[in-house]
Amino acid sequence: MEVIIVKGADAVAEMGAQLVCELLNKKPKAVMGLATGSTPIALYQKLIQCYQQGEASFRAVTTFNLDEYIGMTADNPQSYRSFMDRELFDQIDILKANTHVPSCGLDDNPRAIGTAYENAISAAGGIDLQILGIGSNGHIGFNEPCSSLSSRTRVKTLTESTVRDNSRLFSAGEFQPHLAITMGIASILESRRVTLLATGAHKATAVRDAIEGPLSARCQASALQTHERATFIIDEAAASCLEYRDYFRWANSENTPIIEKFGNFYELDQT
Ligand code: F6R
Repeated sequence: MEVIIVKGADAVAEMGAQLVCELLNKKPKAVMGLATGSTPIALYQKLIQCYQQGEASFRAVTTFNLDEYIGMTADNPQSYRSFMDRELFDQIDILKANTHVPSCGLDDNPRAIGTAYENAISAAGGIDLQILGIGSNGHIGFNEPCSSLSSRTRVKTLTESTVRDNSRLFSAGEFQPHLAITMGIASILESRRVTLLATGAHKATAVRDAIEGPLSARCQASALQTHERATFIIDEAAASCLEYRDYFRWANSENTPIIEKFGNFYELDQT
């Protein structure tokens, strides 16, 4: 596991954007896994700038989002589909037909929808780079504490803490769903490369549990410890509870010459 600690939220977004641009330049038909929430917004703004400055094209890219509220139609401004259109897709050259956000209506069979979503990811060739945020309870996607670490795309009931964390995005009296469809931990771990972005002191204990804690369903992000190519890009505040943070800084400075020589996606040379 690679842990990169940078100064603040802007540097996290910048480093995430560099990784995405490097991937797209190496593999223009890349398949990306995307997240919603506050954290990736700065990354998406950087990617829009990269596109505008001709440093990246999304023309041939396919995307799969992690999750969506159940019963939330695409035209609802609170839906994750609306979020992605607004924050990224409408401002880059991606073909909307190549963007996927899971969608499950109240009367849909969630198991059939989950299986179809997993099949669509496989048919696209699997995810090259999965972008993740982390909940203050350690969730990735909407895989809440004590979900199976072998989970696949399915319905999850959100915990009270997640509902509370996300209530900032809903106005008083507005309906806030408590159910979501989410890619599972097994689905996420199949991505060829995973990058988790975290900023702010409110993420520090979740980040510590994910990186240094025992591998445990209690902290879903700890499952990334089993991934061959998982990178945490975190700011100082999010890194503040890490016992090994000096080691991570040192390891990173030792790795930099290798990355400068071979790039971040040298494994793609073999595919
Ligand atoms: C959203 C998602 C969630 C968020 C997490 C952090 O698609 O997958 O796991 O990444 O809840 O959200 P923010 O970034 O708003 O703190």
